[in-house]
Amino acid sequence: MERLETVDAMAGWRRAAVGSVGLVPTMGYLHEGHLSLVRRARDENQLVVVSIFVNPTQFGPNEDFTTYPRDMKRDLELLERESVDAVFLPSVDRLYPGAYATYVTVERIAARWEGASRPGHFRGVATIVLKLFNIVRPDRAYFGQKDYQQLQVVRRMVSDLDVPIAIVACPIIREPDGLAMSSRNAYLSIGEREAATALFRALNAGEELYRAGERSACAVQRAIEGVLSKEPQAKTDYVAVADPETLDSLEEIGGRGAVCCLAVRIGKTRLIDNLLLPPTPSAKI
Ligand code: PAJ
Repeated sequence: MERLETVDAMAGWRRAAVGSVGLVPTMGYLHEGHLSLVRRARDENQLVVVSIFVNPTQFGPNEDFTTYPRDMKRDLELLERESVDAVFLPSVDRLYPGAYATYVTVERIAARWEGASRPGHFRGVATIVLKLFNIVRPDRAYFGQKDYQQLQVVRRMVSDLDVPIAIVACPIIREPDGLAMSSRNAYLSIGEREAATALFRALNAGEELYRAGERSACAVQRAIEGVLSKEPQAKTDYVAVADPETLDSLEEIGGRGAVCCLAVRIGKTRLIDNLLLPPTPSAKI
C-alpha cells in the first residue's frame, strides 16, 4: 500500500495507474461503515485509493474540527488489511494554502436540513470532494447512505458540473442494536450510547407506520418525533420526511417513497441517521 502525502505524489501515482480506479473519501478514524465502502470499491475496480483528510472547511467555527477523533496508525493497518493500493494523506496547508479562495456552492438541496443546521457545511464538503476528484481522477467514488444528504449533494454537483465520475451509494452499516456506525460515536459515554439507540428506534417507528399504509408525511414525522421525545437525553435538531432525490419536504408520501432524516444531540454529541421508505407501485384507479 502506497502512502501518498502530497498532491504531486498522488497525481504521479494516478498517471502511472493502469486499470479502473475507485476512490473512497474519508476523514479517518475508520470503522466497519468506511470499510464496507472500501470492500465495494475493491470488488468493482482494479485499483483502490482511500483518502484520509479531516477537512476544516466543512466544520463550523464552534464544531469539533480540533477534537475530531484521529488514529492514523490504526487506520493504515485496517486499510492495509483490505488490500488498498494507495492512501492519500494530504496536509491542510497544501490543500488550503494561504491564498485559497475558491469554493463550490450547491444550491437548494444543500440549503436545507443539515445545510440549515450547519451553515457552510456542504460548501466545504462539495469543495473538498471536487478537489479530491480532480487530484485522484477516479472512475468511481464511493459514498455511504449514512450521510444521505451529502450523497445527494455530491450527486447534484457531479451532474451539474459534468464531472465524469460514477457515484456509488453504499448502505448504512449499523451496530447490532441499530445505531449507525460513526466516528463520532466515540464521543458517547456509556449512558449516552444507550440513549443513542433512540435514533434507529424512532426511524423504525416511522417505517412501521408507513408499512401499515400511512402516507401522510406529517404523521410519519410525528411518530419519529414521538419516540425521540421519550428519550430524556435526546434533543432533536430536526426530523425530515422528504423526497429521496431533492430532499424537499413532503406532505404526502407518493410513489417515489421518502427518506426520513434526523439529527439529534445526545449530550454534546450531534448524531445523524436516516431511513428510506421504499417506493410503492402507484395505486390502481
Ligand atoms: P466520513 O464521516 O469519514 O465518512 C466517509 C464515508 O463513509 C462517507 O461517504 C460516509 O457516508 C461513509 N460512512 C460513514 N459511516 C457509515 C456507515 N455507518 N455506513 C455506511 N457508510 C458510512 O463523510 C465524510 O467523511 C466527509 O464529509 C467526506 C465525504 C470525506 C468529505 O470530507
